[in-house]
Amino acid sequence: MRAFEKSGDDQAGVLSMKRVVYSVIFLALSDFCNVRAQPVGDPQEGLALAQQFCSECHAVRREQVRSPTPQAPTFLKLATTPGVTSAALSVALTTPHAGMPMFGLTTTQREDVIAYILGLH
Ligand code: HEC
Repeated sequence: MRAFEKSGDDQAGVLSMKRVVYSVIFLALSDFCNVRAQPVGDPQEGLALAQQFCSECHAVRREQVRSPTPQAPTFLKLATTPGVTSAALSVALTTPHAGMPMFGLTTTQREDVIAYILGLH
């Protein structure tokens, strides 16, 4: 009986391990698809929003080499920084941080801006 219980435990351990592995694979794949399959946002709208809300500090156009606020990364720089995914940008745009005001962007507007930034890549 004891032995049976023990193997039951092991089985559960293996199963939850599998579940972890599968979710990691799933997350990796969905992130990959996010980058490949076109982002949900509209980059044209995103550019208009970026010019309205971000261009005061950030270089928002590809051909702009320097940001008006030197500490603010250019959007091209953001787009070409490894690890900058739509998820990462989404977090950056919903978390207050030094020097950057919180904007009242709607989810759609945020997706548009993100689509624009990632589209610079
Ligand atoms: C008032 C100036 C200002 C405005 C307006 C502004 N930013 Fe920023 N932003 C900054 C500065 C300064 C930094 C660098 C902050 C730092 O390194 O701590 C930054 C950093 C960022 C980062 C990188 C965040 C990170 O965690 O590294 C992103 C993404 C970003 N801004 C996006 C935007 C977007 C999109 C808009 C418009 C919706 C915007 N910013 C508007 C000043 C601004």
